[in-house]
Amino acid sequence: MKDPVRIAITGGAGQISYSLIFRIAAGDMLGPDQPVILQLLEIPQAMEALNGVVMELNDCAFPLVHDIVASDDANVAFKDADFALLVGSRPRGPGMERKDLLEANAAIFSAQGRALNDYASRDVKVLVVGNPANTNALIASCNAPDLDAGQFTAMTRLDHNRALTQLAQQTGKHVNDVENLIIWGNHSATQYPDIAQCQVDGKPALELVERDWYENDFIPTVQQRGAAIIKARGASSAASAASAAIDHMRDWALGCDAVVSMAVPADGSYGIEEGIIYSFPVRCQGGHYAIVQGFDIDAFSREKMQATENELREERSAVAHLLG
Ligand code: NAD
Ligand code: LMR
Repeated sequence: MKDPVRIAITGGAGQISYSLIFRIAAGDMLGPDQPVILQLLEIPQAMEALNGVVMELNDCAFPLVHDIVASDDANVAFKDADFALLVGSRPRGPGMERKDLLEANAAIFSAQGRALNDYASRDVKVLVVGNPANTNALIASCNAPDLDAGQFTAMTRLDHNRALTQLAQQTGKHVNDVENLIIWGNHSATQYPDIAQCQVDGKPALELVERDWYENDFIPTVQQRGAAIIKARGASSAASAASAAIDHMRDWALGCDAVVSMAVPADGSYGIEEGIIYSFPVRCQGGHYAIVQGFDIDAFSREKMQATENELREERSAVAHLLG
């Protein structure tokens, strides 16, 4: 058996965590041979609910769970953490955009960035799920000067998975048949789900669907899927968000053959300005991700990539006081 790794999860009593923690405990994220120590963070008012979650975890008698820490102190929850999933923050309600949460949530991520900087493992892999996820990840990273900026990522895997299914259903194929689909930019309504590079069952996707469907159905459906879930469920996505978080961390830690989408620090690739956290196509291997280079960008794509970059720059300006 391997040595246990420490996994910090914030917002442990929230709705995403109620799915996420149990799947991690069952081995879905790091495999059936990787023991885990779960380090769960909540605010003081939610500690009783978190204790209920811990009782249920204990009642599952998961073979891989070596220990569970439940705390309202980020310094305790992040101590020596190898992985940190930053979920805890307010979700939006109907009629809100995710960036409307900036004011409510931004302070959480500056404090947690500092705690990660001071207490987490030097190799910690951080995934920000709490919205607006890209800019919250930037805030956390800027408040963790002793960690590498590349250790901070934000989640666009849910958008990627949503887009895979929309395209597979439209072409009458399976999600496993879809390759090289890309989510560019922000986890917001400006994101650009791009199928220009994409093949379905080996054929160019754009030859299999109508241009009108791509521009006027597929793109807005993926961009607005979070709002559609809120309308239908009366609460934001939870199990699908947890599943995407597991996909993101599993691929980053264990590698995967496919091109997937991750929001990572822009490094100038594809002309996107450094200093924002932007979703790119990546490949993961050996515990590292790398932005896939060389995709052709036409004028339609360039305009959409620019619009979502502009939004991320605006979000960055709005939280400039938290960026250190
Ligand atoms: P929720 O309200 O059910 O749970 C959030 C939990 O976080 C609560 O239990 C709350 O007490 C806790 N919390 C608040 N501040 C905290 C802090 N400083 N430290 C630790 N815990 C804290 O919300 P949810 O549905 O689980 O969603 C959580 C976040 O994830 C929201 O911001 C939501 O918009 C976002 N989200 C992102 C994606 C994505 O694709 N990136 C998908 C779904 C949801
Ligand atoms: C989602 O995409 O489902 C989440 O970001 C929740 C939301 O506010 O849309």
